[in-house]
Amino acid sequence: MIGMASGARIVLPAEPLSDGATVLRPWRESDIPRLVAICRDEEIMRWTRVPTAYGITAARAWVDESRALVQDGISAPFAIISSTDHELLGSISLVRFTWEHARGEVGYLLAREARGLGHATRALRLICAWGFASLGLERIELLAATGNGASQRVAERAGFTREAVLRSYHMLHEAPFDMVAFGLLPGDAESAGGRSGTGVRADSIGSSADA
Ligand SMILES: CC(C)(COP(=O)(O)OP(=O)(O)OC[C@H]1O[C@@H](n2cnc3c(N)ncnc32)[C@H](O)[C@@H]1OP(=O)(O)O)[C@@H](O)C(=O)NCCC(=O)NCCS
Repeated sequence: MIGMASGARIVLPAEPLSDGATVLRPWRESDIPRLVAICRDEEIMRWTRVPTAYGITAARAWVDESRALVQDGISAPFAIISSTDHELLGSISLVRFTWEHARGEVGYLLAREARGLGHATRALRLICAWGFASLGLERIELLAATGNGASQRVAERAGFTREAVLRSYHMLHEAPFDMVAFGLLPGDAESAGGRSGTGVRADSIGSSADA
């Protein structure tokens, strides 16, 4: 929140965040095997800093460390869950908070089989609404590689504004990548929701390493 000291404690919502189709909840030990399967994916390797040989150790560290990261005010990580079968679909997190400027960044990824169904857009809207309302953020940033068209579309559908291209901004697999910088303010999110509803087809339901 505004004036929140760095290192301040974040409290994740007591109840999962949900829009009826997509659910965000804290990570659980039982998510580990599926998280490993999700992260062993070409697109995730390509566009995020998720380690290339992703295994049980990395997944366990992610789940185990998530609670401390929340308590230390470093990140707010959520598992993305299907409301229909409660299956783990992906990961979305608010990260890199700059509390003195009430600012954070969002990163996400989805399982290959969960793509094209609107879950990323819905998850993005849910986490941003929560970040504005509960953490007092005044700005949420999203960085997508210039070649990552799917992520850029998701950002736009969730109401983000394309603000700049940051040259050689992220090192991905030891190579510099140009990143499109998007920004979302609380009013943007409201007007995007008002303009187009969920913006997700009615028949459908990513550091980035920080997703
Ligand atoms: C980014 C990601 C979460 C998007 O998931 P998704 O919303 O289910 O993605 P979709 O397949 O529905 O694509 C979203 C939109 O981008 C479009 N798209 C897909 N690939 C594209 C490409 N290469 N270029 C341009 N647009 C593209 C789709 O047509 C769709 O637009 P539409 O709804 O207007 O038709 C998913 O692709 C993913 O997990 N990628 C790997 C990790 C990652 O890149 N994370 C983000 C890092 S910033």
